[in-house]
Formats: sequence, C-alpha cells, structure tokens
Amino acid sequence: MAKKSKPPFYVTTPIYYVNDVPHIGHAYTTIIADTLARFMKMNGRDVFFLTGTDEHGQKVEKAATAHGVDPRAWADKVVVRFFDLWKALDCEPDFFIRTTMDIHEKGVQKLFKILLDRGDIYKGEYKGWYCVSDENFLTEDVALDKDGTKTCPDCGRKAQVVSEETYFFRLSAYQQKLLDHYRTHPQFVRPQSRMNEVTSFVRGGLKDLSITRTTVKWGVPVPGDPAHTIYVWFDALHNYVTGIGYDRDPALFEKFWPASVHLIGKDILRFHAVFWPAFLMASRLPLPECVFGHGWWMKDEAKMSKSKGNVLDPYVLIRAMGPDPLRYFLLREVPIGLDGNFSHEGFIHRVNSDLANDLGNLVSRALTMIRNYFQGKIPPPAAENPADAEIRKAFEEMKKWAVAQYDSYALNKALEEIWAFITTVNKYLADNAPWKLHKDPALRPRLARVLYQAAASLRGVAALIAPVMPGSAQKMWEFLGESGSVQDVRFDDLAFAGLDIGHILKEPTPLFPRVDLKAFLAEEPGTSKEQPMDEPKTPSVDQNIITYDEFAKLELRVAHVLEAVKVEGAKKLLKLKIDLGTEQRQIVAGVAETYAPEQLVGKKFIVIVNLKPAVIRGVESQGMLLAAVSGDKSAIPFFEADVPTGAKVK
Ligand code: MSP
Repeated sequence: MAKKSKPPFYVTTPIYYVNDVPHIGHAYTTIIADTLARFMKMNGRDVFFLTGTDEHGQKVEKAATAHGVDPRAWADKVVVRFFDLWKALDCEPDFFIRTTMDIHEKGVQKLFKILLDRGDIYKGEYKGWYCVSDENFLTEDVALDKDGTKTCPDCGRKAQVVSEETYFFRLSAYQQKLLDHYRTHPQFVRPQSRMNEVTSFVRGGLKDLSITRTTVKWGVPVPGDPAHTIYVWFDALHNYVTGIGYDRDPALFEKFWPASVHLIGKDILRFHAVFWPAFLMASRLPLPECVFGHGWWMKDEAKMSKSKGNVLDPYVLIRAMGPDPLRYFLLREVPIGLDGNFSHEGFIHRVNSDLANDLGNLVSRALTMIRNYFQGKIPPPAAENPADAEIRKAFEEMKKWAVAQYDSYALNKALEEIWAFITTVNKYLADNAPWKLHKDPALRPRLARVLYQAAASLRGVAALIAPVMPGSAQKMWEFLGESGSVQDVRFDDLAFAGLDIGHILKEPTPLFPRVDLKAFLAEEPGTSKEQPMDEPKTPSVDQNIITYDEFAKLELRVAHVLEAVKVEGAKKLLKLKIDLGTEQRQIVAGVAETYAPEQLVGKKFIVIVNLKPAVIRGVESQGMLLAAVSGDKSAIPFFEADVPTGAKVK
C-alpha cells in the first residue's frame, strides 16, 4: 500500500524591525524556526521557512532620521546585519521578505482594497492615546496617570493624544467569530496559557481598529488615497501571505497557505492571535494552524535593554565556538513557551557538560578505539547479547519519542530524550570496557560488537541532532564514514542497523572543545567588559563545604616555568611551558594583563595537574595555575623558598 503523504509545513518568524541591529532574542525565534524546518524536512514533509524584516513605520523613520539618512537607505544598511547573522547561525530560510519589496507592497494594497470594497474597512475620525514607540493606540482600559496623561503598558513610555482622519478595520464584527474559532481550534494559540490570555482579551470586547495614518510618511500608501499610509502592523502581518506567493505565485500559495505555525514572542501575541485572524477572515483566507508565543530571554535575571547595556550580542558566542553550542543551549535550556535566563556561567556549563563531555568525548573515544583496534573499519561483530540488544532497543525507543517531541515543538524534550540515550551509551561502554576486551585476541568479535553498537548509536544520534546542530551532526556523519548530507536522512527510514559493517571511519577531530569560563570571560569583549558581570561576592566561610576527600582529588604540584610567550590574537593569555619534575607540559593562563612573559620564566607556582585538558583560543592547556583574581588583574602566589619542582601541595 502506498504511504500516505504528509502535509506541507510552513513556518514563519516575526519580521524584525530594522530600527536596530539583531540580538539574541531575534536569534532565538529564527533558530527555533530553522530547527523546525530542518526537522520537518527530515520527517518527510515539504517545508517552507519564511523570515524577513519590517521596514516601514514611525520607528524606522525615526531611527533613519537620527542617523541622518533616508529610511530606505537605513533599511538597506541594517537588513544586511540580519542576513549575516542568519548565515552565521546556520539558519537557512527559503525566502527573506522585506516589507519594502514591490511584491509585498502590491499584495498589501490589494488586500486593503478588497476589504474596503467589502465594507470591512471604512473611513472615519480617530482620537486616542497613541504610543509612538510601539506604533499602537492604547486600549481604552489603560487608566489615566495622575498628570492626566497615559503611559504605554507595554513599553512604559508616555503616550500622546492623536486625532486624525483614518480608515478603520471593522474588528468589532469579528469578536464572536474569533471566539468560535478559538473554541473549535484549541491549538490555534499555544501554549495554553497564551490561549487563555487571548480569549479573555477578546471576551472583553473588540473595538474597530484604526489602520491608516496621515502622520506617517514612511509606509505603504492607501490605494486611491495616498495622503494616508497603511498602519505598520496591517502592512507587516500580511508578509505571511505575500512571502508565500499571494497574488503572485498561485501554486506556491496553494501548496503552503495556511501556515502551520507562526512563531512569535509573547509581546506580539495580540497582533497575531486577534488582529491577524480577523484580517484573514475578512479577506476570506484560511487561518494559520497555530500561533506559538515563545517566552523571553533575560540576561542574568534582568530584562535585556540598551539602557542597561546588557543586550547580548550573539556574535560573541558564535565567534568563540561556532553556531551550534548557542543553538543547542537556547533550545535545550527552557521549553519554548517559558522565559529563559542567559548567564555565561550557565551557558558554558551546559556546553562543557552536555556537548564536550557527554557527546564529544563519546564520539572521540568510540571512534578512536575503532581506529586503533580495527584500523578504522568495523569487522563482522559477534551476535548481540542481551546488553547489546538493550542498546539497540533503547535507540529505537528514543528515536520514536524524540521525533514525537520535535513534532509537537517540544524541542527541549526531544534533546532530553537524545541526551538520556547518550548517557546510556556512555554507560554501556563503561560496563563493557572495550579497552579490556582488546587485550584478549579471542574476544575480538565481542570487541567488534561493542564498538559497532557504539558507532551505530552515534550514527542515529547524528541524524537526530541534525535539526538543532546541523554543522556538528554533519561532522559526526562524516567521521562515521557516511557520505552525502546527514539531512538527507528521513527519520522514517533511520534504523540502528543502518551502519554498514566494513565501513571505513574517518579520523575524528574534536567536536566541542571544552571552554574555560575564566579565559572565555576574560577574552570576549561584549561579555565581561561591555556588559559587566556582577562583582564577585566574597564567599562566606561556611559556603560550599567540601570534605577533605573531595579536596584531595585535586592534584596540586609545584611547577617551574621554562618558557612563556603570548598567545597570538589573545591579549590576556600566555602560553607557558612548565616543568613538573617528572614531565614537561604546556598550560594557557589568563594573566598577560598583569605579567609580561619574561617576568614568569624561572618562577615557581602551584598548578592543578589533574584537570581535564582544555583548548583555549585554539591552544591546548594541560593544567591550570592558581592565582588571585580581581577585575582584570591577577596575582600569582610564587614560592619564595626553594621548593623542589613537582613537589606535592596539600
Ligand atoms: N516587527 C514586529 C513584528 C512584526 S511580525 C508581523 C516586531 N519586531 S521586533 O524586532 O521588535 O521583535 C521581533 C521578535 O523578537 C518578537 O517576537 C519579540 O518577541 C522578539 N524578541 C525581542 N526581544 C526578545 C528577547 N529578549 N527574548 C526573546 N524574544 C525577544 O515586534
């Protein structure tokens, strides 16, 4: 029987204002959309992913004036920042719409005219409190301040009274129709808390909406009445149809409209869940399946704002470690509907523990053993024993759940499923100790089986993480000797046994090098400098008590510095060659702002020698020196007495 084909999938992000450059909040929505697009493709659906920029209106007009250029020139300049960021984040939209494009402006005018002809748009007089910053008239329920003025409840800025001739959209006529739609389509607004919010707003009554301005010049002219420009939100919301071929490419439009999901931030819910469906009902177009309102990212528990100087620049993180750790962190840390808190400590902790330790180490250990024990080629393995079968079954079960979670937009849960499986594979390797099996030539078929199970697991993991971390997944795919793109895998066909026996594996390179928090914060402008972290608090004595046994795990030794040089391109780092008595090592230390290299040569200080090696700015550090740190300065406690090199410190 022929397989039933799956419906097309159309995902959108909000179109971003070009009054400012993109930040991590914008990156978040676009990463979710890109991940869903990649997943849905791998799940067998035809996909269209739309993003773009919102270029008209007072906000953009003001930003342009402030920079002494006309709005179009300003938009042309800022839009490049969005193109570049999406590229740097490996986000690949199928189309990037700009509201200043001819195809969009014509579509908006056409839809305006249709509603005007039908009587859903009519001309009148509007007087009300208007928020210039949000380009929105305040609702009646916003109370007067003591001074008799009103403040915008969304942005906290003072509103002003505006009176003008305007065209109204007959929103009041759609109150009941909207409520009926919410009732019959409970998934129309997600998560449920936002559906409740929208429903109670609409139940409170809807007034007709002013949708043109005579005071704003930078906008789409009203057809036949060019003294009016179309309100920026009426203009912008229609990008979702003009961007998919409305009145331009009927085949494309037919195929993908209505959208499967509009991803938006919770602050613009009302526009998407009330105004937009009402506009669509009026133009007799089908309604999107779902408006998903995601949460907001805060920085160190505070709202990001330019005035606080805590707006996170995604490039700081991309430059340091590529796009995948950021993509992973944003999607893994919180469910899409909730607010998230970004701290550099939290970010680096996750990258080190989930990516470098759990996954990165597993890949490098398993593949290195296959290379070392079998010249990189998996020979025929022994038959599966029950523990081996468990791993295969665990994979199949995990695949089923991870796919289901992705499919319902629970991206953090999909990743949880995958990481629980990675833990299982790590345990399987520890239990079966292939490094011991290797010692007995009679156990080679058994050794082959254990390593086959590990490699087959990693192949499946590569495919399942591909929507979130396309670059790293492709690397894993290639390490495993697979050709082509991992994204050509279809989850329906992804089987544990898909890894061919006899496959030649490639030499793995580190997937996710461990990041040293101290060095990272010291090196990256825009984190510790431009956005100061909280002053370190002096710890109270009873905080974080550890036992002596825990302390004794640290192996501290006296190191003698043989050579010291600056790390190229990193003004805070020195590369040191140290002698530990029994061996020589290289360490990287963030002390270059206090010590010149020559001041350290010949000195003796304390080094932790059993810390896992880390790569800092591309240089491997095989230990860490101890120093007191205060702001940018550090003070290394040197030994004054002559102590033997390599002596234990305890
Ligand atoms: N131009 C309108 C959208 C029109 S859609 C037809 C707009 N643009 S915006 O650039 O101000 O915001 C775009 C999106 O970024 C919104 O969904 C907003 O919620 C999101 N974010 C802005 N800051 C954010 C965070 N700190 N965290 C998460 N998302 C945030 O609104």
